[in-house]
Amino acid sequence: MALPERLGAARDIVIETLQSRRGRARAELLMRTASGRALPVGISTNVLMHQDEMTGVVAVFQDLTEVRDMERRARRNETLAEVGALAAGIAHELRNGLKPIAGSVEYLQRELQLEGEEAQLIDLIARESSRLNKFVTDLLAYSRERDLALVPVDLDDQLRDVVNTLAHDPRRGSDMHVTLEGGPGAAWVSMDPEQMHQVWLNLASNAMEAVGERGTFTIRWSAQADGGVVVDFVDSGPGIAAEDLPRVGEPFFTTKRGGTGLGLAIAQRIVERHGGVLTLESETGRGTTARVTLPGAAAPVAQVA
Ligand SMILES: Nc1ncnc2c1ncn2[C@@H]1O[C@H](COP(=O)(O)OP(=O)(O)OP(=O)(O)O)[C@@H](O)[C@H]1O
Ligand SMILES: [Mg+2]
Repeated sequence: MALPERLGAARDIVIETLQSRRGRARAELLMRTASGRALPVGISTNVLMHQDEMTGVVAVFQDLTEVRDMERRARRNETLAEVGALAAGIAHELRNGLKPIAGSVEYLQRELQLEGEEAQLIDLIARESSRLNKFVTDLLAYSRERDLALVPVDLDDQLRDVVNTLAHDPRRGSDMHVTLEGGPGAAWVSMDPEQMHQVWLNLASNAMEAVGERGTFTIRWSAQADGGVVVDFVDSGPGIAAEDLPRVGEPFFTTKRGGTGLGLAIAQRIVERHGGVLTLESETGRGTTARVTLPGAAAPVAQVA
């Protein structure tokens, strides 16, 4: 038998076909690539006969990585649809409570003319109640699969807005350095700006929460030769444990106290609806990179000159 031992179960299936003289319709195996990555493989075998004599076995292998990825995404979407239905039920109630809170705070802000720390505190209440309101609204919109309102957006402008928002975020550590790198030139992306803004904020929140008091967080974008763009959120946080990595992005998977575990799932769904891809790369102790790849758009005519 010339097949090497390291083929493991695939070798066993070929041997079994040889011995039983019967092909195998379809088996699935988990193999490893040379670099150690798990590789799901489909294998089917057929016997070659010549005048009642078996002359060989043909084994057909298929890399199932993409199929498995698609199945995983479909499962996630199903869970998200259930979440959406649940969210729709409670969002109404929650928004009814948030509205008078936001209104009262706005009134107090106007009437009390607070200064210093007190003004900051009331700002925080105002900001957080509107953030919660937005979250609930988004979840609701999400469950209804709102159509994307696509317009060309200057990516650098949009990401600069995100960085400016982060500058005032109370979660930002005192020694955390946030930078935006991009270009050269501008990149126009056809997107629903509100929904993509949500993506950037979710990824930025994770990066900031990972970095904590001290460290770096860089948002880096670059235009690709095919007109698409790549946006990396690179943080110097503790990274994601190898055993957690496969579950990260599943709805409700969280390692945080008070986390809902929806941030990445929502981001992933929005990116996918834009025809893009969201991937995470992380190593314990070395930080995490969340990468969003999006198809590009032509610059709007009025902006070209
Ligand atoms: N940049 C990162 N560094 C380290 N761990 C991360 C990072 N991004 C995501 N994770 C891990 O993935 C989990 C899921 O992230 P996700 O954003 O979906 O939910 P969450 O941040 O826990 O809660 P929320 O719904 O409030 O966003 C996190 O709890 C954390 O364990
Ligand atoms: Mg999060």
